[in-house]
Amino acid sequence: MRTLIVGAGALGGLLAARLLATGAPVCLATRDARGAARLKASGLKVTGVGGAVSVEAAQVAPVDGDLAGTPFDLIVLATKAHDAVEVAPKLARRLAPGGSLLPIQNGGVSQVLAEQLGGGCVLGGLSNLGATMASPGVYEQRNAGHLLVGELAGGTSERAERVQQWLGRAIEVRVTPNFRGAVWSKLLLNCSVTTLGAIAGTTMREYIAWPEGRELFDRTYDEALSVAFASGARPERMLVEPVPPAPRDGRGPGARDAWLEEIVRSYGDLKPSMLQDFERGRTTEVEYINGYVVRLGRHLGVPTPVNAAIVEAVGAITRGEAAPAPSLLSRVLQASPHG
Ligand SMILES: NC(=O)c1ccc[n+]([C@@H]2O[C@H](COP(=O)([O-])OP(=O)(O)OC[C@H]3O[C@@H](n4cnc5c(N)ncnc54)[C@H](OP(=O)(O)O)[C@@H]3O)[C@@H](O)[C@H]2O)c1
Repeated sequence: MRTLIVGAGALGGLLAARLLATGAPVCLATRDARGAARLKASGLKVTGVGGAVSVEAAQVAPVDGDLAGTPFDLIVLATKAHDAVEVAPKLARRLAPGGSLLPIQNGGVSQVLAEQLGGGCVLGGLSNLGATMASPGVYEQRNAGHLLVGELAGGTSERAERVQQWLGRAIEVRVTPNFRGAVWSKLLLNCSVTTLGAIAGTTMREYIAWPEGRELFDRTYDEALSVAFASGARPERMLVEPVPPAPRDGRGPGARDAWLEEIVRSYGDLKPSMLQDFERGRTTEVEYINGYVVRLGRHLGVPTPVNAAIVEAVGAITRGEAAPAPSLLSRVLQASPHG
């Protein structure tokens, strides 16, 4: 499979290095010529879970440059969400007939790209792998996670299985017949655990202990879940059951608290990735997380005032008009009073 990986950041660099280490001929695209030259000089090194590898990066080039191997059977899009949506149209032109574009961002990126590009070239991808980049070319795998792939329309396909076998040489890859459900399971947590933690400047375990934090979590999650259901998605179980107990389903008043406690145990101590984006002055992915919920909700006639207020708050932080703080959670609540 002639393969291009676009984006030599944490996930793209890790995947490229592990594939190259198996002897697979992979081309890697950077944003610009400087980035390509740097990687050619340094090579790619991975440490951490899954073992260490160190490889040369012979076929690395700027994304607009001469990419060895064009046209590609598989293009893995490993940039952040906004870059993925911007660069995807010109990448689609580099696909061989029947080739697949595999975005691996969180949130609504796969769906947005499928609508934007049409023609069924988008194969859904979602990463549960955790990776960091210490410096260009130097990566650490942080967990034993996997890459999930699947058709946006649902069901199984031969191409999903081929991609699983091909990339499975390097990392664990699973195929799901319910890709949209898997996207929503992660999106529900990104909307609430990650974004609210970033706004509060803390972990979920801390903010959920404050009454405003708990109320905001509940309303954000339930709003996003209503949009998921209205879209026809069936969120599927990851670490935690994605659909909370209903108030009167016979499991008693403590059932929702127990469900929430499971989420805190699984995700409550992680530093939100969006908070790291704030600290580094980087564009966040909120437009494809809570912003995606708002746009889809509008389209489906589901009100999403809390998620809209969250997008506003993230925008204010990004513009330097506010700083992450627990008090911002109260401001978000005030901006989205109960209907
Ligand atoms: N890292 C994780 O553990 C993890 C886990 C789950 C999901 N994800 C998701 O996976 C995606 C990638 O995450 P990441 O952590 O790997 O991000 P990252 O470290 O920021 O890497 C993104 C890379 O893409 C490059 N890039 C941007 N625009 C480009 C373009 N037009 N052409 C070529 N390269 C371009 C960036 O270059 P510049 O530095 O020049 O901008 C950067 O090297 C995100 O959507 C993230 O939410 C990540």
